[in-house]
Amino acid sequence: MTKTIQIALDGPAAAGKSTIAKIVAEKLGYVYIDTGAMYRAITLKALDAGIDLASSEETGRLLMDTKIDLQPSPAGQLVFLDGKNVTEDIRSEAVTKSVSQIASHESVRKQMVELQQQLASGRGVVMDGRDIGTHVLPDAELKVFMSATVAERARRRYEENNKRGFKTPLEDLQKEIAARDKMDSEREVSPLRQAEDALYLDTTNLTIEQAATDILKLAEERLN
Ligand code: C5P
Repeated sequence: MTKTIQIALDGPAAAGKSTIAKIVAEKLGYVYIDTGAMYRAITLKALDAGIDLASSEETGRLLMDTKIDLQPSPAGQLVFLDGKNVTEDIRSEAVTKSVSQIASHESVRKQMVELQQQLASGRGVVMDGRDIGTHVLPDAELKVFMSATVAERARRRYEENNKRGFKTPLEDLQKEIAARDKMDSEREVSPLRQAEDALYLDTTNLTIEQAATDILKLAEERLN
Protein backbone atom coordinates (compact mmCIF):
# COMPACT_ATOMS: atom_id res chain seq x y z
CA MET A 1 0.00 0.00 0.00
CA THR A 2 1.25 3.51 -0.79
CA LYS A 3 2.40 5.39 2.26
CA THR A 4 0.38 8.50 3.10
CA ILE A 5 0.97 11.18 5.71
CA GLN A 6 -1.08 13.75 7.57
CA ILE A 7 -0.15 17.39 7.10
CA ALA A 8 -1.24 20.03 9.63
CA LEU A 9 -1.14 23.67 8.51
CA ASP A 10 -1.84 26.19 11.23
CA GLY A 11 -1.51 29.93 11.49
CA PRO A 12 -3.36 33.21 11.91
CA ALA A 13 -6.11 34.60 9.70
CA ALA A 14 -5.44 35.16 5.99
CA ALA A 15 -1.93 33.69 6.07
CA GLY A 16 -2.65 31.86 2.79
CA LYS A 17 -3.13 28.50 4.50
CA SER A 18 -6.14 27.33 2.55
CA THR A 19 -4.80 28.31 -0.88
CA ILE A 20 -1.54 26.52 -0.15
CA ALA A 21 -3.24 23.53 1.49
CA LYS A 22 -5.39 23.06 -1.61
CA ILE A 23 -2.36 23.04 -3.92
CA VAL A 24 -0.43 20.63 -1.70
CA ALA A 25 -3.42 18.27 -1.35
CA GLU A 26 -4.02 18.26 -5.09
CA LYS A 27 -0.36 17.52 -5.90
CA LEU A 28 -0.27 14.64 -3.43
CA GLY A 29 -3.75 13.36 -4.26
CA TYR A 30 -4.83 13.90 -0.65
CA VAL A 31 -8.06 15.14 0.87
CA TYR A 32 -8.10 18.81 1.85
CA ILE A 33 -10.01 19.74 5.00
CA ASP A 34 -10.68 23.40 5.74
CA THR A 35 -11.57 23.41 9.43
CA GLY A 36 -12.19 27.17 9.45
CA ALA A 37 -15.09 26.54 7.05
CA MET A 38 -16.63 24.20 9.62
CA TYR A 39 -16.54 26.87 12.35
CA ARG A 40 -17.92 29.36 9.85
CA ALA A 41 -20.81 27.03 8.96
CA ILE A 42 -22.02 26.68 12.55
CA THR A 43 -21.61 30.45 12.98
CA LEU A 44 -23.89 31.05 10.00
CA LYS A 45 -26.48 28.73 11.49
CA ALA A 46 -26.25 30.38 14.93
CA LEU A 47 -26.67 33.85 13.39
CA ASP A 48 -29.69 32.72 11.35
CA ALA A 49 -31.22 31.02 14.40
CA GLY A 50 -30.69 34.16 16.47
CA ILE A 51 -29.28 32.27 19.45
CA ASP A 52 -26.99 33.81 22.06
CA LEU A 53 -23.51 33.56 20.54
CA ALA A 54 -21.92 34.08 23.94
CA SER A 55 -23.56 30.93 25.31
CA SER A 56 -21.39 27.83 25.12
CA GLU A 57 -24.40 25.71 26.01
CA GLU A 58 -26.72 27.09 23.31
CA THR A 59 -24.13 26.97 20.54
CA GLY A 60 -22.99 23.49 21.57
CA ARG A 61 -26.58 22.26 21.53
CA LEU A 62 -27.18 23.79 18.11
CA LEU A 63 -24.12 21.98 16.73
CA MET A 64 -25.36 18.64 18.06
CA ASP A 65 -28.33 19.05 15.76
CA THR A 66 -26.29 20.08 12.73
CA LYS A 67 -24.73 18.30 9.79
CA ILE A 68 -21.64 19.85 8.21
CA ASP A 69 -20.21 18.27 5.06
CA LEU A 70 -17.16 19.19 3.04
CA GLN A 71 -17.08 18.02 -0.56
CA PRO A 72 -14.35 18.45 -3.13
CA SER A 73 -15.33 19.93 -6.50
CA PRO A 74 -13.39 21.22 -9.53
CA ALA A 75 -14.16 24.76 -8.30
CA GLY A 76 -12.72 24.04 -4.84
CA GLN A 77 -14.11 22.68 -1.62
CA LEU A 78 -17.89 22.98 -1.19
CA VAL A 79 -19.41 23.38 2.26
CA PHE A 80 -22.85 22.00 3.06
CA LEU A 81 -24.82 22.94 6.15
CA ASP A 82 -27.73 20.60 6.83
CA GLY A 83 -27.68 19.68 3.15
CA LYS A 84 -27.60 23.27 1.83
CA ASN A 85 -24.61 24.61 -0.11
CA VAL A 86 -23.31 27.53 2.00
CA THR A 87 -19.85 27.82 0.42
CA GLU A 88 -20.32 31.53 -0.39
CA ASP A 89 -22.53 32.48 2.58
CA ILE A 90 -19.93 31.46 5.17
CA ARG A 91 -17.51 34.11 3.81
CA SER A 92 -19.85 37.00 4.68
CA GLU A 93 -18.69 39.85 6.88
CA ALA A 94 -21.25 38.93 9.55
CA VAL A 95 -19.90 35.38 9.81
CA THR A 96 -16.27 36.57 9.78
CA LYS A 97 -16.99 38.98 12.64
CA SER A 98 -18.66 36.35 14.86
CA VAL A 99 -16.79 33.14 14.10
CA SER A 100 -14.03 33.57 16.70
CA GLN A 101 -16.61 33.94 19.45
CA ILE A 102 -18.34 30.70 18.49
CA ALA A 103 -14.97 28.95 18.08
CA SER A 104 -14.00 29.91 21.63
CA HIS A 105 -16.63 27.61 23.18
CA GLU A 106 -15.44 24.26 24.49
CA SER A 107 -18.82 22.67 23.69
CA VAL A 108 -18.31 23.58 20.04
CA ARG A 109 -14.61 22.71 19.78
CA LYS A 110 -15.04 19.27 21.33
CA GLN A 111 -17.54 18.21 18.68
CA MET A 112 -15.60 19.82 15.84
CA VAL A 113 -12.34 18.14 16.81
CA GLU A 114 -14.07 14.73 16.91
CA LEU A 115 -15.56 15.28 13.48
CA GLN A 116 -12.25 16.51 12.06
CA GLN A 117 -10.42 13.47 13.46
CA GLN A 118 -12.99 11.18 11.85
CA LEU A 119 -12.58 12.95 8.51
CA ALA A 120 -8.79 12.55 8.67
CA SER A 121 -8.72 8.99 9.92
CA GLY A 122 -6.60 6.52 7.97
CA ARG A 123 -5.98 8.66 4.89
CA GLY A 124 -3.60 11.21 3.44
CA VAL A 125 -4.89 14.64 4.42
CA VAL A 126 -3.91 18.26 4.42
CA MET A 127 -5.86 20.00 7.15
CA ASP A 128 -5.66 23.70 7.88
CA GLY A 129 -6.80 25.64 10.93
CA ARG A 130 -5.58 26.98 14.25
CA ASP A 131 -5.24 23.90 16.49
CA ILE A 132 -4.53 21.10 14.03
CA GLY A 133 -0.92 20.45 15.05
CA THR A 134 -1.65 20.97 18.75
CA HIS A 135 -5.00 19.17 19.19
CA VAL A 136 -6.69 17.71 16.14
CA LEU A 137 -3.77 15.78 14.61
CA PRO A 138 -1.07 15.75 17.30
CA ASP A 139 0.69 12.86 15.49
CA ALA A 140 0.70 14.47 12.05
CA GLU A 141 3.96 13.63 10.23
CA LEU A 142 4.31 17.20 8.99
CA LYS A 143 3.25 20.30 10.90
CA VAL A 144 3.78 23.77 9.54
CA PHE A 145 2.88 27.03 11.24
CA MET A 146 2.47 29.70 8.57
CA SER A 147 2.36 33.39 9.13
CA ALA A 148 2.97 36.78 7.52
CA THR A 149 2.75 40.36 8.75
CA VAL A 150 -0.75 41.71 9.39
CA ALA A 151 -0.21 44.32 6.66
CA GLU A 152 0.65 41.64 4.10
CA ARG A 153 -2.21 39.39 5.13
CA ALA A 154 -4.69 42.28 4.86
CA ARG A 155 -3.29 43.17 1.45
CA ARG A 156 -3.80 39.61 0.21
CA ARG A 157 -7.34 39.45 1.58
CA TYR A 158 -8.07 42.80 -0.06
CA GLU A 159 -7.00 41.51 -3.47
CA GLU A 160 -8.91 38.29 -2.99
CA ASN A 161 -12.04 40.27 -2.03
CA ASN A 162 -11.63 42.57 -4.99
CA LYS A 163 -11.72 39.60 -7.34
CA ARG A 164 -14.95 38.44 -5.70
CA GLY A 165 -16.51 41.88 -5.94
CA PHE A 166 -16.26 42.80 -2.21
CA LYS A 167 -15.00 46.28 -1.45
CA THR A 168 -14.05 46.30 2.24
CA PRO A 169 -11.41 49.04 2.86
CA LEU A 170 -7.88 47.78 3.51
CA GLU A 171 -7.82 49.45 6.91
CA ASP A 172 -10.99 47.62 8.00
CA LEU A 173 -9.50 44.32 6.89
CA GLN A 174 -6.35 44.99 8.93
CA LYS A 175 -8.46 45.69 12.00
CA GLU A 176 -10.65 42.62 11.49
CA ILE A 177 -7.63 40.32 10.99
CA ALA A 178 -5.83 41.70 14.04
CA ALA A 179 -8.97 41.38 16.19
CA ARG A 180 -9.54 37.76 15.08
CA ASP A 181 -5.86 36.87 15.74
CA LYS A 182 -6.15 38.34 19.22
CA MET A 183 -9.32 36.43 20.07
CA ASP A 184 -8.02 33.18 18.60
CA SER A 185 -4.69 33.47 20.45
CA GLU A 186 -6.15 34.50 23.79
CA ARG A 187 -9.04 32.07 24.13
CA GLU A 188 -8.79 29.48 26.89
CA VAL A 189 -9.63 26.37 24.90
CA SER A 190 -6.97 25.33 22.38
CA PRO A 191 -5.75 28.81 21.46
CA LEU A 192 -3.86 29.54 18.26
CA ARG A 193 -0.32 28.29 18.97
CA GLN A 194 2.59 26.86 17.08
CA ALA A 195 2.99 23.18 18.05
CA GLU A 196 6.40 22.41 19.52
CA ASP A 197 7.24 20.12 16.64
CA ALA A 198 5.91 22.45 13.92
CA LEU A 199 8.14 24.22 11.42
CA TYR A 200 7.65 27.97 11.11
CA LEU A 201 7.14 29.39 7.63
CA ASP A 202 7.05 33.15 7.18
CA THR A 203 5.22 33.76 3.91
CA THR A 204 5.46 37.57 3.91
CA ASN A 205 7.93 37.57 1.03
CA LEU A 206 6.93 34.29 -0.59
CA THR A 207 4.55 33.70 -3.47
CA ILE A 208 1.84 31.07 -3.08
CA GLU A 209 3.81 28.80 -5.43
CA GLN A 210 7.03 29.18 -3.41
CA ALA A 211 5.29 28.37 -0.13
CA ALA A 212 3.50 25.37 -1.67
CA THR A 213 6.80 24.11 -3.14
CA ASP A 214 8.50 24.41 0.27
CA ILE A 215 5.75 22.39 1.93
CA LEU A 216 5.69 19.79 -0.83
CA LYS A 217 9.44 19.33 -0.41
CA LEU A 218 8.99 18.75 3.31
CA ALA A 219 6.17 16.30 2.60
CA GLU A 220 8.34 14.35 0.13
CA GLU A 221 11.06 14.11 2.81
CA ARG A 222 8.55 12.62 5.24
CA LEU A 223 7.27 10.20 2.61
CA ASN A 224 10.71 8.87 1.66
O1 C5P B 1 -9.55 29.69 8.63
P1 C5P B 1 -10.61 30.76 8.80
O2 C5P B 1 -10.04 32.14 8.84
O3 C5P B 1 -11.73 30.61 7.83
O4 C5P B 1 -11.22 30.45 10.24
C1 C5P B 1 -12.28 31.18 10.76
C2 C5P B 1 -12.22 31.15 12.28
O5 C5P B 1 -12.53 29.84 12.75
C3 C5P B 1 -10.90 31.51 12.94
O6 C5P B 1 -10.71 32.91 13.08
C4 C5P B 1 -11.02 30.81 14.29
O7 C5P B 1 -11.77 31.58 15.20
C5 C5P B 1 -11.83 29.57 13.95
N1 C5P B 1 -11.02 28.37 13.80
C6 C5P B 1 -10.59 27.71 14.93
N2 C5P B 1 -9.93 26.53 14.84
C7 C5P B 1 -9.65 26.00 13.64
C8 C5P B 1 -10.04 26.68 12.46
C9 C5P B 1 -10.70 27.87 12.57
O8 C5P B 1 -10.82 28.19 16.03
N3 C5P B 1 -9.02 24.82 13.57
